[in-house]
Amino acid sequence: MIFLNKIEIERAITLDEVMNKIEEAYKVFYEEKFYMPPRPVVEYKNKTLLYMPCFMDNSLGTKIISVFPENANIGEPAIYGLMLLNDYTTGKPIALMDGQAITSIRTGAVGGVGVRHLSNKNASTVGIIGAGVQGFWQALYACKARPIKTIFLFNRNNKDLTVFIKNLKDKLVDESINIVVCDDVRSLIEKSEIVITATTTNDPVIPNDKNLLRGKCFIAVGSYKHDMREFSDAIFSLVDKVYVDLPFACEESGDLVTPIEKGILTEDRVVTMSALLNSKEDVTIKNENETQFFKSVGMGLFDLIIAKAIYENAKLKNIGQIINM
Ligand SMILES: NC(=O)c1ccc[n+]([C@@H]2O[C@H](COP(=O)([O-])OP(=O)(O)OC[C@H]3O[C@@H](n4cnc5c(N)ncnc54)[C@H](O)[C@@H]3O)[C@@H](O)[C@H]2O)c1
Repeated sequence: MIFLNKIEIERAITLDEVMNKIEEAYKVFYEEKFYMPPRPVVEYKNKTLLYMPCFMDNSLGTKIISVFPENANIGEPAIYGLMLLNDYTTGKPIALMDGQAITSIRTGAVGGVGVRHLSNKNASTVGIIGAGVQGFWQALYACKARPIKTIFLFNRNNKDLTVFIKNLKDKLVDESINIVVCDDVRSLIEKSEIVITATTTNDPVIPNDKNLLRGKCFIAVGSYKHDMREFSDAIFSLVDKVYVDLPFACEESGDLVTPIEKGILTEDRVVTMSALLNSKEDVTIKNENETQFFKSVGMGLFDLIIAKAIYENAKLKNIGQIINM
């Protein structure tokens, strides 16, 4: 069995490869060529464990992650975890990987694919709300998907973003991209054509103000529980459709559960990204009156397809540490 840490995972696969694999995952999802039960979410005192097994016709694997939102208070990332890949014939473990790295690169790519298919093709500004692990990778992938010239950042509690910005500059291929810290969410939204939320908040960070939100592409990554909401009601009166990675988002995330309960969103307006990609319809924003919204909760199918691609690349490139069982 091989073990791949964060650095080895990043060496094994490029951002473009991950985005293309996410599009491949949407095709598998559309064709229903997988088996993925609803993920058990085990909670104890605001600490969560997520178990994410998935089968495809030639592969299987499980990601296990912990999500401890209060880690931000002690300067620790919210998510830690492991990804296990098994041999399809025997079930024998073949690879173990850093689950935090798998999560962040695939979630970044899910956001990037959302940006690719929903935002204005010429968008040159992106605003990231929540400058943590996911926010970092969302910024990188947004720059892959669109000709971004400026990244705006906002994080609560005046978090020191010096290291975040330095690491982002080190990873951005285009050195001319500006990174600007905003004092508040409102000014970030005013300046950004694409807005990505990647927070651990329970209460909406996006103001309930239609005029502020109109004409922008919103990608929501953070909320995965009923009591977590990043978006207020206004967004649902601006968009015709709400795009999701998984229909289960309507049952899992407060961003959709609450507006559905209130009757301001109906499930017939919720469309999967896999259906959108299959339709080949161009719904990218064309003018300042069009608004788009994509909500992601993530799924084991993404992790499996990405981990398999990383494993295959790692074998070819001779990357990884051998572990004997
Ligand atoms: N959709 C998916 O597939 C997916 C995948 C991974 C993580 N997530 C979710 O994304 C969220 C963020 O995860 P992470 O790993 O980046 O966590 P993190 O702790 O590394 O970063 C979260 C950041 O958001 C900031 N924050 C919290 N509340 C805020 C607010 N109200 N306004 C501004 N900033 C705020 C925190 O200070 C922190 O810097 C979590 O809820 C996680 O469960 C979703």
